[in-house]
Amino acid sequence: MCRLASSGSQFLGKGLNIPLIEAFFVPGVADAPMALDPIKIRAPQDEEIVPKQWYNIVPDLPEPLSPPRKPDGSIVKPEELEAIFPKELVRQEISTERFIPVPEEVRQAYLEVGRPTPLIRARRLEERLGTPAKIYFKYEGVLPTGAHKANTAIAQAHMAAKEGIERLTTETGAGQWGSALSLAGALFGVKVRVYMVRISYEQKPYRRVLMQIYGAEVVPSPSKLTEVGRKILEEDPDNPGSLGIAISEAIEDALTHPNTKYSLGSVLNSVLLHQTVIGQEAMKQLELLGEEPPTHLVGCVGGGSNFAGFTYPFIREKLRGKLDAEIIAVEPKAAPSMTRGEYRYDFGDTAGLTPLIKMHTLGHRFIPPPIHAGGLRYHGVAPSLSILVNHGIVKPVAYKQTEVFEAARIFAQAEGFVAAPETAHAVKAVIDLALEAKKKNEKRIIVFNFSGHGLLDLKGYEDYLAGRLVDVEPESFDLSYLPRVEG
Ligand SMILES: Cc1ncc(COP(=O)(O)O)c(C=O)c1O
Repeated sequence: MCRLASSGSQFLGKGLNIPLIEAFFVPGVADAPMALDPIKIRAPQDEEIVPKQWYNIVPDLPEPLSPPRKPDGSIVKPEELEAIFPKELVRQEISTERFIPVPEEVRQAYLEVGRPTPLIRARRLEERLGTPAKIYFKYEGVLPTGAHKANTAIAQAHMAAKEGIERLTTETGAGQWGSALSLAGALFGVKVRVYMVRISYEQKPYRRVLMQIYGAEVVPSPSKLTEVGRKILEEDPDNPGSLGIAISEAIEDALTHPNTKYSLGSVLNSVLLHQTVIGQEAMKQLELLGEEPPTHLVGCVGGGSNFAGFTYPFIREKLRGKLDAEIIAVEPKAAPSMTRGEYRYDFGDTAGLTPLIKMHTLGHRFIPPPIHAGGLRYHGVAPSLSILVNHGIVKPVAYKQTEVFEAARIFAQAEGFVAAPETAHAVKAVIDLALEAKKKNEKRIIVFNFSGHGLLDLKGYEDYLAGRLVDVEPESFDLSYLPRVEG
């Protein structure tokens, strides 16, 4: 589009008494460089794009989900889950309804925090790679805490408030999930206590500060506030903490305090469900752009919530024979649950306090190497995603952290957006797909979920740029201690 040809621009150039060509480069004067085609870079973001229903993939799965079990093999009853979770969450957790209404207050809060999020074409990246592929990303980084986690935090804090629950407890590693729940607690008047892994509490203070701004109580874990924490500190006063210990503390806290429940930021069906606003919006936005159906959909996987939220609405179309896209789930080689884990019953946490769930797992005692993508350092993956991987509907791939940071650097230089280290995994897969398209001279429409920005994760980038990052790939995984549970 050549806006300079318009009389307005010429007038502006003359009126300001600057040569016409310079008017191009005056910020705000010429809003599109001359060389660009009249392509649409950003999809519309009208309010009605925000979905009124969450999509539940459970009735569409190629096989039923296996129920949560106890170590003796018996099935965990929904009432037992209500000891730690809000009733409505348990209802959603076991629901087989395909669509579940988003409560109006939740939808309103989604609008207030920035939904619908942008769907942006990565035009400059396409040019740099010289690929015939079109690349789009759904940018969840606009939400106030910088990542997709707010989508479920808002739903969970809302249901807690409606049930008269006064306090929610949770764990957090580097703080992405903790900050999202703290925000949601502030919005709905629910107190939040976050058990933050001690080493992160001390070394990564900024998300702690963010949680405190929202009014949450942030406790370094292990702490003296719980039996589990006190026991660990007695034996080892300098224990740096782990996600497993923090989960145990948060659950114990919920079980031993009145009007308190526990909140989890991934893995559960209900959490994946809440995230489906991402994919539903993206689908509508592609349509509004007049774009053809995507050929490739990509997301990173920790417990699976942003990946599921983005891809499941598209997978529904694929399962109905209406979309022929490759769906790619990206994980770190340091914690490769989908590519190298076993599909069997395991605990969701390191301490073994949760029910057993059937999933791809590396074993709950596995402590992933300390890669910067803290949100991907998880031993298992959501049960529904495990089934989709088993059936070849989702293709898992794994990358090393140095190649992932390099991909994110390329993306940032082309597009300006700095990816969270977790998101950078998806970016790497997208670049590989685009380069493959170039080699094969193939038209592709690649859409990926940009789950969060990395502006509070610059330490990882600093280490990468200084050449200090190491790639660790565990040689083997010991699962011999896992309970043998059939079903
Ligand atoms: C930005 C970002 N992306 C991805 C993840 C991975 O989590 P999940 O697989 O539940 O989306 C996290 C987890 O903290 C995250 O913060």
